[in-house]
Amino acid sequence: MIPLLYRIEHRQEEYPGTFTLQLSMAQGRAVADPEAGRPGQFNMLYAFGAGEVPISVSGPVSTDGALVHTIRTQGLVTRALQRLGQGEQLGVRGPFGCGWPLERIRGRDLLIIAGGLGLAPLRPVVYKLLQDEQGARRVRLFYGARRPQERLYRRELTQWAQSTELVQSVDHADSAWPGHIGVITDPLAAAQIDTGKALAFVCGPEIMMRFCIQTLIKKGLPESAIYLSMERNMKCATGHCGHCQWGPNFICKDGPVFCYRDIHSWLRIRAL
Ligand SMILES: Cc1cc2nc3c(=O)[nH]c(=O)nc-3n(C[C@H](O)[C@H](O)[C@H](O)COP(=O)(O)OP(=O)(O)OC[C@H]3O[C@@H](n4cnc5c(N)ncnc54)[C@H](O)[C@@H]3O)c2cc1C
Ligand code: FES
Repeated sequence: MIPLLYRIEHRQEEYPGTFTLQLSMAQGRAVADPEAGRPGQFNMLYAFGAGEVPISVSGPVSTDGALVHTIRTQGLVTRALQRLGQGEQLGVRGPFGCGWPLERIRGRDLLIIAGGLGLAPLRPVVYKLLQDEQGARRVRLFYGARRPQERLYRRELTQWAQSTELVQSVDHADSAWPGHIGVITDPLAAAQIDTGKALAFVCGPEIMMRFCIQTLIKKGLPESAIYLSMERNMKCATGHCGHCQWGPNFICKDGPVFCYRDIHSWLRIRAL
């Protein structure tokens, strides 16, 4: 429960209001656990004097204690984190929650579907796939954003496009934009999907996830082949305070990644 001190090694502005921090341990020793910070897990980041917020792991799994987090400025705590520069310190508790079911990828056609900041918790999955550790049969990344310049990791997206099938869609763009214009569900609906082999990992604003799930189900993908990452306010992150309760689930402990089959009845209740 006690945050460890971490030092900001590098700070990268992704676009105005959204930044990525590379952190190293300033105190304590890294635990040589190859499972530490699995793709899809999150840490509680503590801005001293402001408070703690849950933020997904957005970098490679590391055993030397290094961490990467991408943060959008929303309110009190994320604004305090935004003000921190290279060399400054923050507190970290974690990692918490269960991650993406990487063990299910082997031999499957993986559909990674991200909206806006939702690419952050999926980026470590892409890293794993690029190392070809998971044995996927085919990988497609569908990424939707508001504008071309409001996409995360733009340089990496260009690199990924060489080894992965990348479909990008933005809400607004000029004629120089080579990708789709509109919502990401349009190219998703048009895609050929082998429903017996496909597995979908979805992360983004809740409304975007609802529409993507609708599209996938309509195409015949079973509920058991769809996974999504949920967000709710958190305090303890360890399943004790009840702040993140969602139906019978605690998002911090039972999630944040859920199989759609297990939570579809809760997702149907708006504003739960
Ligand atoms: C498991 C998990 C993983 C997360 N991963 C990331 C991540 O990788 N990067 C990241 O930037 N954020 C992530 N978040 C969201 C992040 O925790 C919140 O943005 C943060 O807690 C806001 O705290 P704050 O004190 O800055 O804002 P607050 O003062 O709490 O809120 C300010 C305003 O922002 C609104 N707000 C708060 N949270 C959200 C939200 N999630 N979406 C939209 N509006 C919101 C509030 O309603 C309020 O109007 C994650 C959340 C969870 C539960
Ligand atoms: S944040 Fe306390 S129970 Fe989940």
